Amino acid sequence: MVKLSAFGERFAGPSGIVDLMDDLDHALRLRPDTVLMGGGNPARIPAVDELYRERLIRLIDDPQRCEELLGVYQVPRGDARFREALAASLRAEYDWDVGPENIAVSNGSQPAFFVLFNLFAGRSDDGSARHIQLPLVPEYVGYREIGLDDGMFRSQRPSIELLPDQLFKYGVDFSRLRLDGQTGAVCVSRPTNPTGNVLTSAEIAQLDALARQAGVPLIIDGAYGTPFPQMIFAPTQPFWNDNTVLVLSLSKLGLPGLRTGVVVASEEIIRAFARANTLLGLACGTLGPALAADLLADGSLFRLSREHIGPFYAAKAERALDTLRQGLKGLPVRIHRPEGAMFLWLWCEGLPGGTTALYERLKQRGVLVVPGASFFMGLDAPWPHTDECLRLSYAQPDEVVAKGLGIIAAELRRNYGG
Ligand SMILES: Cc1ncc(COP(=O)(O)O)c(C=O)c1O
Repeated sequence: MVKLSAFGERFAGPSGIVDLMDDLDHALRLRPDTVLMGGGNPARIPAVDELYRERLIRLIDDPQRCEELLGVYQVPRGDARFREALAASLRAEYDWDVGPENIAVSNGSQPAFFVLFNLFAGRSDDGSARHIQLPLVPEYVGYREIGLDDGMFRSQRPSIELLPDQLFKYGVDFSRLRLDGQTGAVCVSRPTNPTGNVLTSAEIAQLDALARQAGVPLIIDGAYGTPFPQMIFAPTQPFWNDNTVLVLSLSKLGLPGLRTGVVVASEEIIRAFARANTLLGLACGTLGPALAADLLADGSLFRLSREHIGPFYAAKAERALDTLRQGLKGLPVRIHRPEGAMFLWLWCEGLPGGTTALYERLKQRGVLVVPGASFFMGLDAPWPHTDECLRLSYAQPDEVVAKGLGIIAAELRRNYGG
């Protein structure tokens, strides 16, 4: 058997996110009719897809641009046209003080997080070990195992606000949040995967102030956020300053196959990021930035996000919430208020057996969801709440979502003995 290094053990060994992807494959082979409410695949929106197709054909039909697309390595920071177009749009729309020198492209935002987290946290020359502080868990499971060193994350329990109509909302518990000399950066996804939470402007302002005080960057993962794809269901202040590292992605616009991520940060951070990214990937893909540059040039990227993608997911969230609330009537299950992204997050208080077991039973019944426990990384003490939660995606067509929600509600009722 091949002998693996510590890196090999860490990256080729078992991990939550890889196991979940394998499980998906396995479940589909066993039951091709499985209702897929587990993954982060975006929905298909015909009018939006049509626009992408038209623009791609136009790009390919232009011999010079097609040659650039296929035959030229990008510079370390990525396509200059795209970076100029994005900087101009961010300046015009939000008055942010950004130029193309504040922007770098990556091959998807997932690898951007690998580079950023390992730039800011892990062992330093002075022998100290730094960590990424997650001010609110549950947080995106894809962060979980991308640290080159152990102990990459620290977090603390959130506050929980109980709301009418079976809803609740997590908040940052600032009384527990501590940044110290070992903190390398603070990171939040906004909207949050897995809960659909959107951190309030007050929370973001306080995190910004704390991060500045500690002399560390505040990373905001905008994979579902502003300015694109704008999967946010209530007016929300976009946020960036020279201590913010905003990470964007084309994936949830419906373009995960193009593998394009974007980092907006101070020039110093962009320089470091681009060097590390070049070592890892040599250069970024061309197609995502080329398409996005065209969509930015005539304003259609932001408009599409605001007028089509945001409202599309807001309506889907509302329908899924109504259906689930009906199905769960009388059960001690609460739903996180859906404020963005494409997930419902259930809190099944006191569920016999917990949600890890529920996940297995749902898989047997042909519904794939994600149990909550793996989203709570960095906590320093066990918390029963973590095995009382469940994430499900409502991005599939409505009739598929309704079928899945019906099975989930029935299984929960059975588990509670109702
Ligand atoms: C919160 C969040 N951040 C980052 C990513 C990574 O996305 P990508 O690598 O496709 O840009 C995802 C994917 O689901 C996500 O949900």
